[in-house]
Amino acid sequence: MLLKTVLLLALVAQVLVLENGLLRKPPMGWLAWERFRCNTDCNEDPKNCISERLFMEMADRLAQDGWRELGYEYLNIDDCWIGGRDAKGNLVPDPKRFPNGMAFLADYAHSLGLKLGIYADMGNFTCMGYPGTTLDKVVQDAQTFAKWKVDMLKLDGCFSTPEERAEGYPKMAAALNATGRPIAFSCSWPAYEGGLPPKVNYTLLVDICNLWRNYDDIQDSWSSVLSILDWFVTHQDILQPVAGPGHWNDPDMLLIGNFGLSFEQARAQMALWTVLAAPLFMSTDLRTISAQNMDILQNPLMIKINQDPLGIQGRRILKEKSYIEVYMRPLASEASAIVFFSRRTDMPYPYRTSLARLNFTSSKVYECCAPPCRPRTSTRVTSSVASGIKPTSH
Ligand code: GLA
Repeated sequence: MLLKTVLLLALVAQVLVLENGLLRKPPMGWLAWERFRCNTDCNEDPKNCISERLFMEMADRLAQDGWRELGYEYLNIDDCWIGGRDAKGNLVPDPKRFPNGMAFLADYAHSLGLKLGIYADMGNFTCMGYPGTTLDKVVQDAQTFAKWKVDMLKLDGCFSTPEERAEGYPKMAAALNATGRPIAFSCSWPAYEGGLPPKVNYTLLVDICNLWRNYDDIQDSWSSVLSILDWFVTHQDILQPVAGPGHWNDPDMLLIGNFGLSFEQARAQMALWTVLAAPLFMSTDLRTISAQNMDILQNPLMIKINQDPLGIQGRRILKEKSYIEVYMRPLASEASAIVFFSRRTDMPYPYRTSLARLNFTSSKVYECCAPPCRPRTSTRVTSSVASGIKPTSH
């Protein structure tokens, strides 16, 4: 009997080890990569190179310009920070660009009520050729990140074999847990295996990762947003059910504030990423962002929907011949978020629909909670709008 109890406890412990309790809602914050890439030339471009200064300035903006209060709390470093390994094999940041080290940056972020994310690569090198985390270094690197008080790790997958990744990602999940520090784990693993079963085991990912990149890198263009959206929608039957509190699909960063999207396209990305329950990682220069783009990223309704406690990923529910698409995400308190998304390239299009067509078939009376909803759910679609629909008790 005692043996049985011990065995049972051991099993329970094993299951608990995999659940770190983090990211019950999609993470929000700022990630350097899409906007600042691997700019390491601090002599020519001291304001924009990957350096302590850049991250401290973004931290200041996150804390002072209303972002943090809205939930944008992660300040995430991407590739090109590594200087090498010391005599003991510990990762060290580039000493010129991060003269005070990573523990200093983590302290700085924490002093402002923010969290620090860092980047490593399961393989021989990072995607930009910096030292990688080979299998023998997984535990050591996890301990280094915990010692620095890092709060999230993005583990990329360049320069490794599928076999090394299959061993390395679960190993890193266990190593992070073993540090005792809560460190959210962002896995690029599925993106390196084509993003789909049978090569990708989403059941396993749910257990070991808090979020994962499924598909290609986003680039600063509308065509890139559409190609990612298309891939997610094509495979929504596989992807939608695996997302939930603590484990999210990641269609990659928000481009809003950069150079490739029009105003309407920026609104559309925000609305679509919101219903997809996507992580909201901005990657833009918060020092110079326009008021208009700030309004999109700080839209309280979008954030509320994105952060809905049920954590159900939305789906495309309609694709009309008119090139209007409808996306729906179920929310807490029997509410739903609807995005009317136009792929038209001619002009604003008057789209009329009905509750029945949107699958709201109960005899309840529905209340439309947000503009630009109009009576009888007749909605003029310009590019994309999101609205809440909620049954009222009668
Ligand atoms: C890969 C990742 C990107 C970024 C770069 C950095 O391409 O998918 O998100 O981290 O590497 O080199």
